[in-house]
Amino acid sequence: MTLQVDDLRVCYRTLMGEVRALDGVSFTVADGEIMGVVGESGCGKSTLGKSLVRLDNRMKHVGGTVTVDGEPLPIADDRAMNRFRFTSVSIIPQYAMSALNPTRRIGRLVADLLDAHGMSYAATRPELVRRLALVGLPETVLDSYPIELSGGMKQRVVLVLSTLRDPALLVADEVTSALDVSTQRAVAQTLVEFRDRGYVRGMLVVTHDISLVYQIADTIMVMYAGRLAEKAPSDVVVTEPLHPYTQLLIGALPEVGARFSERRLTGIPGRPPGLRNPPQGCRFRARCPLAFDKCAEQPPFVEVAENHQVACWKAGS
Ligand SMILES: Nc1ncnc2c1ncn2[C@@H]1O[C@H](COP(=O)(O)OP(=O)(O)O)[C@@H](O)[C@H]1O
Ligand code: SF4
Ligand SMILES: [Mg+2]
Repeated sequence: MTLQVDDLRVCYRTLMGEVRALDGVSFTVADGEIMGVVGESGCGKSTLGKSLVRLDNRMKHVGGTVTVDGEPLPIADDRAMNRFRFTSVSIIPQYAMSALNPTRRIGRLVADLLDAHGMSYAATRPELVRRLALVGLPETVLDSYPIELSGGMKQRVVLVLSTLRDPALLVADEVTSALDVSTQRAVAQTLVEFRDRGYVRGMLVVTHDISLVYQIADTIMVMYAGRLAEKAPSDVVVTEPLHPYTQLLIGALPEVGARFSERRLTGIPGRPPGLRNPPQGCRFRARCPLAFDKCAEQPPFVEVAENHQVACWKAGS
């Protein structure tokens, strides 16, 4: 599987004008790659994930293309996308586990989902039970109501469901955020195991928790205000970040390579710019300790070393 995203631009229509939530985003995900997508709240992570699978009706595709294994995804056409969802691209949306219908047993929810995709519950059940067992869940969860399951169990159910058809790409949006730390680890490891078993062949793990994604992702992509700031192999992003924003995110790591504490993406003075009327030039300029005259122009997102891309005039110079 290869995911290729080129110059993706997506906005939200609001009464107060358009919010340019993704503004020229280009990247690839290689076969078998787990890519972490990180950045402060509001930088466009969920918008990116959703735009690869389902634009909601407030979102508008402004431009750009997405291909999976060379085949273009008709992301601007909700109906045409039906052929690809669940089978080729699948998403665990942010808050998915709290969105499980509380009045239906898990088995019933699965049957409804399969039915919507023209699949038979009876025929799928053996594989479903096998995968539930793999993530440590007994067959009896199918008879349970969502409220009877812990957060970690629900998140595992959602993961099994969203990958039942072995989609090429899985977008997992904040799947560990509402869980306690040890459960977070277990769910994160399950993502890796599903990739290793070939249940999914590429993954975008969207999170505001860089320390968690560092443990499981092959690459990390850092977003800032609707654009890409930096992308590189995970250890490079964490130990040798080049973008000033990434450096500030990572800055307080106790020791290189050590398990850094439960650090969240907070603590950088100032706030990201609004996306209704974003500033010209580098969007990080108002908060950047290295800003200089040239930053009034938008820095291109360019490769400064092998597999290492950065959007900053100071990077690589
Ligand atoms: N339904 C919506 N209507 C208008 N603006 C939205 C909507 N959803 C998100 N946004 C805006 O789009 C930007 C990106 O949001 P989002 O993708 O949810 O960020 P993240 O997931 O990184 O927190 C933010 O400025 C947010 O306010
Ligand atoms: S381009 Fe300029 S303002 Fe932007 S991150 Fe680099 S140095 Fe800072
Ligand atoms: Mg989000």
